[in-house]
Amino acid sequence: MRVFVTRRLPEHVLDRVRAIAETEVWPDEMPPSAESLREKTAEADGLLCLLTDRIDAQLLEGAKRLKVVSQMAVGYDNIDVRACVARGIAVGNTPGVLTETTADLAFALLLATARNIVAAERYTRSGEWRTWSPMLLTGPDVHHAVLGIVGMGRIGCEMARRAHGFSMRILYTANRTHEAAERDFGARQTDLDMLLAESDFVSLHLPYSASTRHFIGATELAKMKSTALLINTARGAVVDQTALVTALQAGTIAGAGLDVFETEPLPLDDPLLLLPNVTLLPHIGSASHATRTRMAELAAENLICGLRGEPLPHPVTA
Ligand code: DGY
Repeated sequence: MRVFVTRRLPEHVLDRVRAIAETEVWPDEMPPSAESLREKTAEADGLLCLLTDRIDAQLLEGAKRLKVVSQMAVGYDNIDVRACVARGIAVGNTPGVLTETTADLAFALLLATARNIVAAERYTRSGEWRTWSPMLLTGPDVHHAVLGIVGMGRIGCEMARRAHGFSMRILYTANRTHEAAERDFGARQTDLDMLLAESDFVSLHLPYSASTRHFIGATELAKMKSTALLINTARGAVVDQTALVTALQAGTIAGAGLDVFETEPLPLDDPLLLLPNVTLLPHIGSASHATRTRMAELAAENLICGLRGEPLPHPVTA
């Protein structure tokens, strides 16, 4: 059997895959081009891919031997799951292991944006710091503020746990009532309009799909407090980024902390880069050593099961 792995992974993980299949690993830091991916996948029984690889019907057309697509991420909006399922190709992802690490980053981004950490760090290095100054680099308090969590899944719930530790009042939107979060963290389920109107911080924890594209646009931003901050560690296209830039420029909202963007990497001429009231990160929500290693291990486990024709430990269904 043959496997194509679209980026270098820890050796112990690759060794597990090599033990059952002839394994080719894409050697570059940059992802394979669509053409290279098509060529490699055409000969593969298994594909271990990342969110930067587009797995669409066109690619699958030439992948006659492919049994399994294993994604090293919880999100899988780069994969046409329906097209895979229609061809009997199993799809797996890596949920669970990155929940707390991603919530840590979301909360760090919230704190950093509120308290001007990045600007303050730059200021400290710049030589501008001449004295202690009463209102220098002041921002809103995080403790006792209202946090609106849009999407109370695993990561949203861990965000609530962290917010509770900061004595925040927590509102959330979700398809179902999250009893544990209500009981343990005092979280209260609301509709989106109320959450937007009452929250000092709005944190997004929705998966990306056709139904969540531009979930937060000009209309929603206009419902937020002018002092509020928007935090996005989910997927860039959950927010209408053009509308967000306009809202940030106009003072409709006070700022944003973003780990994800509609186009990644963020183009160097993107207007977000000129705004002082944003904290911008390069999609590092799950980037701890332990979590990225665990994600790679889980992706290998899914891949191996798929190659053997066994049920995947973490299957994705259409
Ligand atoms: C995911 O897993 O979907 C994240 O975006 C990367 O960890």
